[in-house]
Amino acid sequence: MADDKTALLQIREELVSLDSRGMRRELKTVTGPQRSETSLAGQPMTILCSNNYLGLADHPRLKELAVEMTRKYGCSSGASRLISGTMTLHRQLEEELAAFKGTESALVYNCGYMANLGVLSTVVGDGDVIFSDVLNHASIVDGCRLSRAEVKIYRHSDVTHLEELLQRFGDSFNRSLIVTDSVFSMDGDLAPLPEIASLAKKYDALLLVDDAHATGVLGQGGRGSASHFQLPSDSIDLLMGTLGKAMGSCGAFVAGRREYLDYLINKSRSFIYTTALPPAVLGASLAAVRLLREEPGLVDELRQKVGYFRQALRKMGFKVSDDPTPIIPVIVGDAGRAMELSEEFLAAGIFIQGIRPPTVEPGSSRLRITITRDLSGTRMDEILAVFSQLHQNPWPSYKGLS
Ligand SMILES: Cc1ncc(COP(=O)(O)O)c(C=O)c1O
Repeated sequence: MADDKTALLQIREELVSLDSRGMRRELKTVTGPQRSETSLAGQPMTILCSNNYLGLADHPRLKELAVEMTRKYGCSSGASRLISGTMTLHRQLEEELAAFKGTESALVYNCGYMANLGVLSTVVGDGDVIFSDVLNHASIVDGCRLSRAEVKIYRHSDVTHLEELLQRFGDSFNRSLIVTDSVFSMDGDLAPLPEIASLAKKYDALLLVDDAHATGVLGQGGRGSASHFQLPSDSIDLLMGTLGKAMGSCGAFVAGRREYLDYLINKSRSFIYTTALPPAVLGASLAAVRLLREEPGLVDELRQKVGYFRQALRKMGFKVSDDPTPIIPVIVGDAGRAMELSEEFLAAGIFIQGIRPPTVEPGSSRLRITITRDLSGTRMDEILAVFSQLHQNPWPSYKGLS
């Protein structure tokens, strides 16, 4: 319209351009609960792109405690943690998370994005240096930017490159910090944590590990990457875990020595300047931690399904690794084709998200499959049959076939 503001005209143009390049994102509405068999825009749908790995989002124990805590403590925390927002439930969850992770202490944040931003912008700053894996999650990238520290990017999981950078730059700065995802969110592969932890020790660098996709998934009873690699818990200085993925709730935590966490309470802006998580969410998170303690077999069930699905895809000729994680990327290459394939699966009642730039590098667009524990064996076989059919039909730009 004639009197639209310049900014709006420019934004409109950008949206049109995104559209014409097949890059415009749209929200799809899940109309049922978050579980593998649900509905999308009112149609029955199997979800193969959720991070609800253990299928706890709709678990009766989580729902019950969320409701019970709402009845007991109300709907809101009322304020930020340092004002009047710290409730018994925050403390209780932190104690149980620290015990679960085997660390001295834990501190709850409202989500993983805020935790990464909060830690990185607090423990390092001007005059410090961060060494970051090139494929680290966007929240780490943004946290690095916010920190004002110098950032050195090392090649993906390349510890030789990391050591070269530590040698070259470690001494020129005040504090050094290495940061890595333990499970990479778009590739589902594992960082070489034992080697990274020993470099952190050798070069006197802090180590921040993002266990978003390892919490509830890897290690004994879902205790995460340190447990998976049998690393002593003190070899990771700051461990960030999320509660909105395998744990079926919402929020995040940082686990480590109490002094680090006390420092965060005092200095971390994304902890200080936000209303604390409400009782319902804390109740669901508490129930998830307790459930994992009592029923570690849930994690084994997930592992078996992941192994089965990965192996079946490999047998069909897809290039799929044997990483023990539920994130299985099937690389398509072209962004438009990845989205078309996603639509083809949708038509078959299967929701697999196509992932394209800027989330992944141009030319590496993919279908990102995630396996969840509540997926039935029969449904897995039906889905594999769809993969097999598509595989036989032209998949021209697919680069992953051997
Ligand atoms: C590796 C990684 N770190 C952090 C986050 C952010 O966590 P949250 O969703 O709790 O904000 C995500 C995904 O959301 C993630 O994949």
